[in-house]
Order: sequence, then structure tokens, then C-alpha cells
Amino acid sequence: MTIKVCLAGATGWAGSELARGIAKNPDLELVAAVARRHAGKVLGDVLGEPRLGGRVHASAAEALAERCDVFVEYTKPASAKANVLAALERKVHVVIGTSGLTDADYAEIHATARREQRGVLACGNFALTVVLLQKFAETAARLIPQWEIIDYAHDDKVDVPSGTARELAFRLSKVRSPQPTVPIERAVGPRETRGATVAGTQVHSIRLPGYVIGAEVVFGMPDQRLTIRHDSGSSARPYVDGALLAIRKVAGLVGVHRGLDSVLDLG
Ligand SMILES: NC(=O)c1ccc[n+]([C@@H]2O[C@H](COP(=O)([O-])OP(=O)(O)OC[C@H]3O[C@@H](n4cnc5c(N)ncnc54)[C@H](OP(=O)(O)O)[C@@H]3O)[C@@H](O)[C@H]2O)c1
Repeated sequence: MTIKVCLAGATGWAGSELARGIAKNPDLELVAAVARRHAGKVLGDVLGEPRLGGRVHASAAEALAERCDVFVEYTKPASAKANVLAALERKVHVVIGTSGLTDADYAEIHATARREQRGVLACGNFALTVVLLQKFAETAARLIPQWEIIDYAHDDKVDVPSGTARELAFRLSKVRSPQPTVPIERAVGPRETRGATVAGTQVHSIRLPGYVIGAEVVFGMPDQRLTIRHDSGSSARPYVDGALLAIRKVAGLVGVHRGLDSVLDLG
């Protein structure tokens, strides 16, 4: 049994690398793709990968006319939610790689997924080192009551904070709320310098040339500090294996699950 995949954003930086990963795995078949500029072409011709026979469509609605088991969302924050809801309404399981969706968006997607009895696996970052960062940070948050997140990215990344930082803040909020010694509303001076409060955590986004993608969580206690940091390089390679795992596992879920560890046994 092959898993039939519809990949939105298949010609992009992350999506094209994932498409090539799908082509190498005979249990997966890319039956349709979404991207506006190459609509009407066969994806394999666009990417120079003859094993990719699916056609590129201009919208998710058109691509979903092709029967598929899993829809992968890898476009842009502005189009992501509508694409995901369209897939769920056609009773297709969804993997979300796109960043920028809010907790409120996920609540709406969760309600639709529950209604349609379909799974959604959302990973702000599919890289194994990020999955481990999340796990280690959750363990630290159980023992250390104060932390903040720093999100590093290239200067032209439009969404803030990154999906990685948002997801990390969301996960830590399930452990507990950090307790700053001086509450943010009592800070003296420009409050923005204390960052944005995301799911109860202060998050600071840096957007500068010279950075690719990184995330750091700093835990502080009197006279001691713990920093856990992930950095990725310039290729989209680190995200492929995690996304392939998500595609294979999402059919076993119902509703929204955030983070790859929902389907990865990390002990
Ligand atoms: N979860 C992870 O591990 C991970 C890893 C890397 C990136 N990301 C996230 O994934 C998203 C994509 O990143 P990227 O760097 O690959 O972007 P990108 O290179 O700009 O690619 C975007 C893709 O989506 C298509 N697209 C964009 N808007 C569309 C629309 N309205 N309708 C249909 N197709 C549309 C683009 O094709 P056309 O422009 O031709 O339509 C292109 O194929 C971002 O949110 C990024 O932060 C997540």
C-alpha cells in the first residue's frame, strides 16, 4: 500500500527537498502538488526528478480533486490555514510544516479535524535536533521556573516569531508558566525590549543577514544558567526525514498534534 501525498509548496525551498525525499521512498507517491508559478506542469519536470509524476496545481482546491491520503502544507502563513481546512473537509489527513499559524488557528483546525475524524501533525521544525531541544527544554522547565526564548533567522524571514519558537513556547506552557521576578507589565522603559509574550513565555526574534535558522531557550536560576540551542545550516535537508515520518504516521492520529515527538518514541 503506498501513501498518496499532495504537497502544497512543492517548488519551494523546503517543499522541493521534501518532494525529492518522497521520490526516493517507494511506499510514498506524490500524486499532486500546489504552487502558482508552475501550475499545469508535471512536478518532476520542474524539479528535474523523473520519479515525480504528479501535476502542479495553482490552488489546494484543484490539487485535492486528485485522490490522496495525506496533504502536506509547506506554502506560506497567509495561505496555510485555508489549505489545511480544505484538505480536512475532503477527509484527508494533514501534515503542517508552514510556520506562522497561531494558537487560535490551531484551535479552529483542531475542531475541524475532530469533526472529520482526521489527523493533523504540525511541526514548526522537523529537524531531529529541534525535537530534542523541545524534549530537553520541557524537562528543564519542570525544575527551573524562569526562562526566555531567542529566535534567530535570516533578515528576509517575514513571520515572527518562528514556528520553532512558537511551538516551543506552546509546549513549555503545558509544563508551567514562567515567573519573571519583575512582571512584564511592571517593567520600566520601552516594554518591547522584553520581547513578545507568546503562550506565557517572553520571545525575542532576531532577523539579520548572517543567520539561517536557530532557536535558543535560556533557563535562569540564582547563580546558574542553562542554555539549550539548535542551529541549522543553509540546506533544507534537516527537515526531510522528520516530514517523511510525519506523512507515514499522521493517519494514526485524530485532531491536531504539535511536534514530531507525538509520533516518535523518545522515552
Ligand atoms: N517545519 C519545518 O521544519 C520547516 C522547515 C523549513 C521551512 N518551514 C516553513 O515552511 C514554509 C515555506 O518555506 P520555504 O522557505 O520553502 O518557502 P518558499 O521557498 O517561498 O516556498 C513556498 C512554496 O509555496 C508556494 N506558494 C506560496 N504561496 C502560495 C499560495 N498562495 N498558493 C499556492 N502556492 C503558494 C510557492 O510557489 P509559488 O510562489 O509559485 O506559488 C512555493 O512552492 C515557511 O512558513 C517556512 O517557515 C518549515
